[in-house]
Amino acid sequence: MSYHRDAIAPHGGQLINRVASPEQKEFFLAKAEFLPRVILDERAVSDLEMIAIGGFSPLTGFMNQVDYNRVVEEMRLANGVVWSIPITLSVTEEVGSPLQVGGLVRLDNSQGEYIGVLELSEKYTYNKKREAVNVYRTDEAQHPGVQVVYTQGSVNLAGDIWLLQRNAHPHFPTYQIDPAASRQMFREKGWKTIVGFQTRNPIHRAHEYIQKCALETVDGLFLHPLVGATKEDDIPADVRMRCYEILIEHYYPLDRVILAINPAAMRYAGPREAIFHAIVRKNYGCTHFIVGRDHAGVGDYYGTYDAQYIFDEFEPSELGIVPMKFEHAFYCTRTKQMATTKTSPSTPAERVHLSGTKVREMLRRGELPPPEFSRPEVAAELARAMRIGQPALV
Ligand code: ADX
Repeated sequence: MSYHRDAIAPHGGQLINRVASPEQKEFFLAKAEFLPRVILDERAVSDLEMIAIGGFSPLTGFMNQVDYNRVVEEMRLANGVVWSIPITLSVTEEVGSPLQVGGLVRLDNSQGEYIGVLELSEKYTYNKKREAVNVYRTDEAQHPGVQVVYTQGSVNLAGDIWLLQRNAHPHFPTYQIDPAASRQMFREKGWKTIVGFQTRNPIHRAHEYIQKCALETVDGLFLHPLVGATKEDDIPADVRMRCYEILIEHYYPLDRVILAINPAAMRYAGPREAIFHAIVRKNYGCTHFIVGRDHAGVGDYYGTYDAQYIFDEFEPSELGIVPMKFEHAFYCTRTKQMATTKTSPSTPAERVHLSGTKVREMLRRGELPPPEFSRPEVAAELARAMRIGQPALV
């Protein structure tokens, strides 16, 4: 294993930085009026940011056809490095055809702000159904990840990027911690082993349980809720972050936990996204990563533990980061504590667990989820968000 001053080297060996320097920015801004323009959707804006800050290391831009094909077919980049999710910039033929390969493309967000540059190296068409079946394990258009693939343009634009303007995360300025910064924080704390936690849902006691079980065996916990695009009915990120703040304040040892946002968009690709989530947290400096039940799943598309089995398809050294796998956790009314079937003799009737949908239904009826499921302070915050009319809650 090669020497690295951090607990773990970034994926592919080097932390990528594609944030334009002040001189580069000046150069690109001066060209603003002369460059062809592509408008990015919310996911592409997140991807641009993740590439630039090194969260997607070793990617330096949107994937070319050789990388794309190998990722879709074999979960590897062309150079053999493990990578499970295509990171592509898809546009319609109408937008793509006038663009000159070899030239620069101006990347705008939906408000028309000039946020990045693409050094266009290739344009290619791709097979949407193959991407759906291989990456999402289904070709059904109702799957929220497949739906994006089916509705996006049929031409992928490839090339290295530069980020000119950061995506604003006005709700979470103190939690915007880039991979270089989280690595620095882990070094300063002297943590040698750090477990990363991905989530897109309000924190409940099963989350807390598996985080704390993991923390018992490592030095630090990196709570890394995803705040990029999620599906319509997921709870908004600012509500979820407030729940985290409240929980940490009351129930966590402050010197063992770092809360930071993950600006990426959700794909709902289950097993393949679990590998991707682990690689991203490796780039942030985590040595371990929690994978529980139906990680990054949606509906009934994936088996409960498929996102754990997929880790066996790789040599541990190819991933570097170690998955910490947890069974479905619940509150056991017999032993009066959180548990899984590995640690509790309960019958199914003695287990309290609720789906996100159930919790949303309860909140809509004005009921609070029970303390066995959710810490009361968190339940109260969800209820408050509901009363002030958060869109996904009403
Ligand atoms: S996810 O899409 O980000 O995976 P969620 O925020 O619900 O959704 O899950 C975050 C992590 O906690 C995932 O690793 C998931 O597998 C795990 N998890 C969620 N609920 C449970 C549970 N009841 N038991 C065990 N693991 C769970």
